[in-house]
Amino acid sequence: MGYDIEALNDVLQPVGSARGLPNDFYTEQSTYDAEREAVFFANWAAIGFGMDVPEEADAKPVEFLGLPLLLVRGRDGQVRVFQNTCRHRGMILIDEPKKVRGVIRCPYHSWCYDLTGKLKTTPHVGGPGQNTHDDIDRDDLGLIEIRSHVWQDIIFINVSGQAPPFEEAASGVLERWKEFERPAHFGGAESAFELEVNSNWKLAVENYCESYHLPWIHPGLNAYSKLEDHYHIMKAGEFSGQGTRVYNPDLSKDQAFTNYPDLSKKWAKQAEYISLFPNVLLGVHRDHRFAIVLVPQGMDRTVERISLYYADEKMTGPDFADLRAKHAAQWKEVFEEDIFVVEGMQAGRHGRFFDGGKFSPAMDEPTWMFHHWIASQMVAAAT
Ligand code: FES
Ligand SMILES: [Fe+2]
Repeated sequence: MGYDIEALNDVLQPVGSARGLPNDFYTEQSTYDAEREAVFFANWAAIGFGMDVPEEADAKPVEFLGLPLLLVRGRDGQVRVFQNTCRHRGMILIDEPKKVRGVIRCPYHSWCYDLTGKLKTTPHVGGPGQNTHDDIDRDDLGLIEIRSHVWQDIIFINVSGQAPPFEEAASGVLERWKEFERPAHFGGAESAFELEVNSNWKLAVENYCESYHLPWIHPGLNAYSKLEDHYHIMKAGEFSGQGTRVYNPDLSKDQAFTNYPDLSKKWAKQAEYISLFPNVLLGVHRDHRFAIVLVPQGMDRTVERISLYYADEKMTGPDFADLRAKHAAQWKEVFEEDIFVVEGMQAGRHGRFFDGGKFSPAMDEPTWMFHHWIASQMVAAAT
């Protein structure tokens, strides 16, 4: 085991006396590898969006923490996640996004699978001209399906198969935001973008779930949504975040996005931002929501994939394309403002005398809760 379990005792303390995670959680390959199992594969981790395979028979290969995966939207409209590996000799089945015509055909010896993963044909497997063999039981040789769940267009997987059902694992956020539990309409090309940061994925989570940095990092936001307008929201074991009491977008004089109908009054002014553990950052507002899926590319590099969704389907039409583009640009600017701090914290973790840091009990409780969760996952996996 590459990490020091004893050191995690210091993390698993109340906020006032806890330390942050040790440096090796940001700088050591062996700790990163252990975290992959204990944090990502043992829980529900986000790997992408339904809009990655928007239409029936769309397939997209995805590599997630070294696992070759294949997203497929079936003819029933369902998204399924398979291991992108042929059951014959282990060839990668699909190496670029495409529309599957008929079946998924392995490029090596042409074994073919349908979109639900069933092995359908095995040419010459019993000798030339013999497409069957008694020892080849097709029912046993379908694609390996990875346990998955799609919520609000976000595709989650649980590699271990041992996590509680998604609805249970995410029950706190589902309950808290149940008013938003209705269709959210992806804004299309204008509404998706990616940012690459030279930092461990956890620093993006840590930075997202607190509002303490607002006055210094986001002066624009802070001009109308001040530090004192924010409150913390947390559920141990599930999420950390913050909300604002003054959501007051100012995009255009002539046009505005339509709100979700019949929201309770508090949402006229409030908006909330949650880091759902481990790797998805969410925001809800009366007129739109967004999700950021953090895709670790290594211990010190992360791709942030951002998608915006609107309350009203009409907002996704051509009349609103300019407004959507402006809106996405506005969010992009905010998220870009955070890059230098997450990258700076990553660099700071190479300071060998840094001891994990000190949390402000008043301001850093959401960050502490995330550290506490990570430490508890690592301890649970090691014992
Ligand atoms: S490896 Fe796929 S058919 Fe042989
Ligand atoms: Fe920020």
